[in-house]
Amino acid sequence: MRLTIRDIQKMKDNREPIAMLTAYDAPSARLAEAANTPTLLVGDSLGMVVQGHDSTVKVRLEHMIYHCEIVTRVTQRALVVGDLPFMTYKVSVQQPLTNAARLMQEGGVGAVKLEGGEWLAPTIGHIVASGIPVMGHIGLTPQSVNQFGGFRVQGREVDSAYQLVKDALAIQHAGAFGIVLELVPTPLAAYISSLLTIPTIGIGAGGGCDGQVQVYHDLLTLAGEFLPKHAKQYANLGEVIQAALTQYNDEVRTRAFPTAAQGFTLKDEVMGDLRQRVEGELGLKPRRDVIG
Ligand code: KIV
Repeated sequence: MRLTIRDIQKMKDNREPIAMLTAYDAPSARLAEAANTPTLLVGDSLGMVVQGHDSTVKVRLEHMIYHCEIVTRVTQRALVVGDLPFMTYKVSVQQPLTNAARLMQEGGVGAVKLEGGEWLAPTIGHIVASGIPVMGHIGLTPQSVNQFGGFRVQGREVDSAYQLVKDALAIQHAGAFGIVLELVPTPLAAYISSLLTIPTIGIGAGGGCDGQVQVYHDLLTLAGEFLPKHAKQYANLGEVIQAALTQYNDEVRTRAFPTAAQGFTLKDEVMGDLRQRVEGELGLKPRRDVIG
């Protein structure tokens, strides 16, 4: 039985921290769920860590549906939230409803996430009213990285901090079941979390949020050398994988791989008969020693 937005709300009410992890494919989703992660985010960060772009702007709805469908198919318990990507919820009143419905019907997610503050509240209200749970996302909203001029901490001055408070309240009022706070100073994120009844999920927003979300590839060092300041390196799988692949290449080059253990036998008489037949009927002999 999958967790629902009610279970996530109960966690906030019981002051039980909520862990969320991104997942994009079958291995990451299975491993994250096996580690008891209650909520998985099929984030459009896949544009950067899976597709190799330098921002999330190029991710399309079809990509999100594809990855959401994989993650929901191989998991059973986690609440799966899917991102609506760049420009798929801002163009008309109808567009967000149609696209959120596709993420749910075709991608199988239990909720969608949208980036934006107070100005987005009416859109969130429409989606929620149509029966689709929504998670908000404020602070640094990566789809607007070009507008921000980089991945910068938000809300450091009183005006911008006050706007973030108003954004969070408007999103809650519109019916969202939770809000991601990204790159928000720790005291401000803690303060916003204390004002809201719905859970806040922080990324680079300190320990005062009701939960934390991190990008799978960052925690495991799978996205190259760069580790954002808000992430902690729980393992360096990139290094382990690189060493293993180098060894594989070396072993293929030196014929150390494969060994007999990785092969399949054939009876000597079958091989002997085959050689005779090839020679007799096709007139062919090996052009070099038969290895193995
Ligand atoms: O796309 C994503 O992975 C996200 C998280 C960074 C919150 O939105």
